[in-house]
This record gives sequence, C-alpha cells and structure tokens, in this order.
Amino acid sequence: RIVYVNGEWLPESEAKVSVFDRGFLFADAVYEVTAVIGGKLIDFPGHAARLKRSLGELKIPAPLDADSLLDIHRQIVMRNKLDEGLIYLQISRGPADRDFEFPKNPVPTITLFTQAKAILANPKAETGISVITMPDLRWDRRDIKTVQLLYPSIAKTEATHKGADDAWLVEDGYVTEGSSSNAYIVTNEGRLITRSLSTAILPGITRASVLDLARGAGIPVEERAFTPEEARQAAEAFSTSATGFVMPVTRIDGAPVGTGKPGAITERLRAAYIEDRL
Ligand code: PDD
Repeated sequence: RIVYVNGEWLPESEAKVSVFDRGFLFADAVYEVTAVIGGKLIDFPGHAARLKRSLGELKIPAPLDADSLLDIHRQIVMRNKLDEGLIYLQISRGPADRDFEFPKNPVPTITLFTQAKAILANPKAETGISVITMPDLRWDRRDIKTVQLLYPSIAKTEATHKGADDAWLVEDGYVTEGSSSNAYIVTNEGRLITRSLSTAILPGITRASVLDLARGAGIPVEERAFTPEEARQAAEAFSTSATGFVMPVTRIDGAPVGTGKPGAITERLRAAYIEDRL
C-alpha cells in the first residue's frame, strides 16, 4: 500500500513515525474512518467536520484545511486503486520529549492508509450479528474520536471469545453504544430508539444520516437511552458505523431479537442508506 505521512506518499514499508510521537506514548491523537464504495468517499463532509471538532476539543492545531483533507482522501483512493473499503486518518499531537504536559509548540503527525473491505457484500449484513453486553469502562469524553481504543479492543476480543461478534457497552443500566458503532432498537410499535448525543457516545456520522433517512421515511424516532432488557424484548436491533453501515443485530446476550432474523425496518434503513449515498 501507499500511505501518507506528513505530506509524503510512501510505500508502507518506508513510512516512519517517531518513537516519541505522543499518539504512540499517550494515545494523544484523534482519528476518522471514512468508507469508500466504488472509489467514492461516503459521508466525507461529516467525517471532516467531526475531525475538526475532535482536534478543537483537544487543542491539537489543525494541520490541514478542509480542501487539502479532501484532496488527500481522493488521492489515497487513486494511488491504491481502492474500490471498496476504508480510509483511516490519524492526527496526533506529534513528537515531543516524554512529558505529561502538552508541548508548547506541537507539530502534529498526520498519517493515512487504506484498507480493502467488503462493505456492501458483507455476509454479516444478511445474517445479522450477535452482541454481548459489557460494562462501559471507557473515559467520559467518548464524543471525541481519540485513539484510546484499548477498552473497545478488550470488549470486542471478549465478545469473540464468547462466540459473539461484538459488545454493546452498558453504563448505569443503559446501553451507551457498541465497541465501535452506535446502537439502536426498534420497538414492537415500530419506533426507532437510539441514545441521544452527549459526552457518553460518539456522534456517529452514519447515525446522523440514518436518523435523517428514518425521519424522511416517516419512521418515528426517539432519541433516548434504552436498557439491555428493553433491547432483548425489542422487535429489531441494529448498529451503525462507517464500516458496517446499518448492521442488523439478531442476538443479544445469546437470546434472539424478535424473529432472530434482520428486521424489516433495519433492512429498509440499510437499503435506504446505500441507495442514498452511492
Ligand atoms: N468507529 N461509536 C464508536 C465508539 C465508534 O468507534 C464508531 C466508529 C461509531 C460510529 O461512528 P461513524 O458512523 O461515524 O463511523 C460509534 C470506526 C468505524 C472505527 O473505529 O473503526
């Protein structure tokens, strides 16, 4: 692969980042993941806007303007002939002597790479995924997309060790979100429920698009927290993310959700999202 590091395009084997980089030492970095389908960027303006916000919240100086960011995303797709998959972008506060205090004059490190992945023809979209619930032990600013992903990695690993596909995280008795996705249920009355935005969850770009599409289709939407118990009793469940789009959740803690097959509203929203964005 050809990767991008601080203004240079390099084969991945030649790309270098300092061992003193604060992204590496302190997880002092933010990231974005943008889907690519047929060489086209999906929901790029939303990802660019959230990146700017994440940088601002952590006072990492924005090293690129919106136009250059778009240009680099387009170039990396072309240079790697990426048809379907994702673009990963990371901006760290850069290298500095190891000190907990932020450096006075940071020089951010920007890296991008691509990863091929079947997003449309993902077999899990046909069957749905199974999730287990786990306590949400992440920090309190989950609205910032930082690279502090150790706990989500632990959660996902534990889920797969237990034969499930992913974990839904629970705090104070309510589901926050998935390890790397937003979480939704559909009630038996056909109402779409997802947690409202706060510092407890990441404001998903796919979430914003899917809620718009649901409202446009006349599906009643309620932004509120739900419990694992309510989810187990729901008619349907699903998650959203840049790499999963709308992903049916058909088992929660071993019990089938609804019929145990992807639900009608879930499938409708997945199809609507794909049709709208391509
Ligand atoms: N994760 N919540 C969390 C904790 C996430 O990590 C993600 C995305 C989402 C969904 O956001 P979006 O719709 O903007 O992708 C929600 C990405 C895909 C990742 O870490 O790979």
